[in-house]
Amino acid sequence: MKTEFYIIGSSSDDDSVLRRAGEIIKEGGLVAFPTETVYGLGANALAKDGAKKIYAAKGRPSDNPLIVHIASPEEAETIAYVPEIYYSLAEKYMPGPLTVIMPKKDIVPDEVTGGLDTVAVRCPENIIARKIISYAGVPIAAPSANVSGRPSPTSASHVKNDLDGKCDMIIDGGSCSIGVESTVISVSDGKIRILRPGAVTKEMLKSLCDDVSVDEAVINPSAAGEHPSSPGMKYKHYSPKADVILADCSDEMFFSEICSKEDSSVGVFVSDEEKDMVKCIPLSVGKTYSAENISRTLYSLLRECDKLNLRTVYIRKPDPSGRYLAAYNRLIRASGGKIIKL
Ligand code: TXA
Ligand code: MG
Repeated sequence: MKTEFYIIGSSSDDDSVLRRAGEIIKEGGLVAFPTETVYGLGANALAKDGAKKIYAAKGRPSDNPLIVHIASPEEAETIAYVPEIYYSLAEKYMPGPLTVIMPKKDIVPDEVTGGLDTVAVRCPENIIARKIISYAGVPIAAPSANVSGRPSPTSASHVKNDLDGKCDMIIDGGSCSIGVESTVISVSDGKIRILRPGAVTKEMLKSLCDDVSVDEAVINPSAAGEHPSSPGMKYKHYSPKADVILADCSDEMFFSEICSKEDSSVGVFVSDEEKDMVKCIPLSVGKTYSAENISRTLYSLLRECDKLNLRTVYIRKPDPSGRYLAAYNRLIRASGGKIIKL
């Protein structure tokens, strides 16, 4: 398959490209497009063949359900039985990096939900994404646009590396501003359970609901077992070829014990300001070592490890709270739980 590639900037042709992207999806094709979290690989969510094509292109197990993307929060009612709490969530955090799992309506094929009787619904904030959904005229099923097991793509070049020749079109809308996937929550009996942490944090959700819990497998992947609350939890994820090791230590120990050895096969995550303190290979998350910067750059730096042929990469273990919880969750999976205590 030849993959068409378009950069969306401010050209007057942009809209016709997005219109075509929508038509391709409606007619059964696959289009990769940007969202504020990561790039998605989209297909018509109301056609079972769309889901099948996605699973084939990604090499993804078909029991791992897809998120269905809508252009405005009200559209959830066409595909799900929407509980009361959805409307307050939507008012505050949609469009945005939040996915809500609700009982599905029959219009959504089993292929999209991996046979589950629930559907995950998300209205992205990215305007390119929402225009494509509107032009498609149908909701769009879209997992992250990576080959299964690879880090999620946060730029169109990542998508191209993984999926060139496997989808009809790739839309380049620049780098994703958040960089980790949406917060996935289930809502039932007025309670919220976080199945995958993201930029909408537990603390933010607490402003809407007294009962917000975090699934145990978010912090401890081995708790997922064979039948986790979210099927994605049981798969190894986000891995570069290098060994990812989390360092549970103070910044002082990190720089004196790990960063001080001259070794071009070892990388470390640091900020721009910390680069000068490193004798191995510094991988900078940005100006400061903040949760936002770590999240935004995490996946591209993990891909960078492969390009640099690194053997090992050391990353300070983030605190599993607030905006850091999402980074923690991805890193604990990328590392396969390898933690050293110094
Ligand atoms: O930010 C995002 O959410 C991105 C962009 C493209 O929107 N999408 C994304 O999709 O991350 P994906 O397929 O890579 O991750 C979807 C996660 C998986 O862990 C899956 O198991 C879970 O959501 N999921 C989907 N439907 C579910 C359901 N009905 N019940 C429980 N978990 C579900
Ligand atoms: Mg994914």
